[in-house]
Amino acid sequence: MNIDFRVIEPHIPFILKGIGVTLQFVSTSLLVGLILGIILAIMKIGKIAVLRWFAHAYTSVFRGTPLILQLSIIYYGAPQFGIEMSAFLAGVLAFGLNSSAYVSEIIRAGIQAVDKGQKEAAAALGIPERPMMIRIILPQAFRNILPALFNEFINLTKESAIVSIIGVWDIMRRAQMVNAQIYKYFEALLFVGLIYYVMVMVLTIIGRMIERRLQRSD
Ligand code: ARG
Repeated sequence: MNIDFRVIEPHIPFILKGIGVTLQFVSTSLLVGLILGIILAIMKIGKIAVLRWFAHAYTSVFRGTPLILQLSIIYYGAPQFGIEMSAFLAGVLAFGLNSSAYVSEIIRAGIQAVDKGQKEAAAALGIPERPMMIRIILPQAFRNILPALFNEFINLTKESAIVSIIGVWDIMRRAQMVNAQIYKYFEALLFVGLIYYVMVMVLTIIGRMIERRLQRSD
């Protein structure tokens, strides 16, 4: 056994630069996922049957196939239709589309988990549908949604490592490049493992703080 962390020392700045890439990738994907997810959730709880069906079918397909497959189809398959895009963009697209399926479920479930009595009471008071949704249901749904969204953020952060396969210069890919240069694997991989873990822990702590604040306002 010859584990020696000094071998990666010269490569540490190179690996650390990946943190920015990963964070930028994950937050952009999350934003895309959030926007599309809200639209899908509206379709799901809406009254138009075709849209409801579409949103459920969409969710089923994107949750029912591996993300790495969706990523490969977008990045390697799109050029066959004359669509060329950077690895970063293809990654954001794949992760955004995938995440929207999960986010739409988080939002739908969050809204539908609000006690039925709230809606009935609002109706009894003669409050119309729209203000009831905006001022009564959504603020309560928000409490269920936000922690779950944060969880999605954490999931995306870990899953983001697979964009390394299409050549995005994220943390994972940088570790692989270092491995290929020094013919040693353990050191760089363990180092990036630590980086991912710290990132996830920071997000977990922020998520918990938000959750606690939401509970306090109850
Ligand atoms: N490993 C799962 C897959 O390959 C992760 C899906 C992404 N998860 C997410 N919350 N967006 O399908």
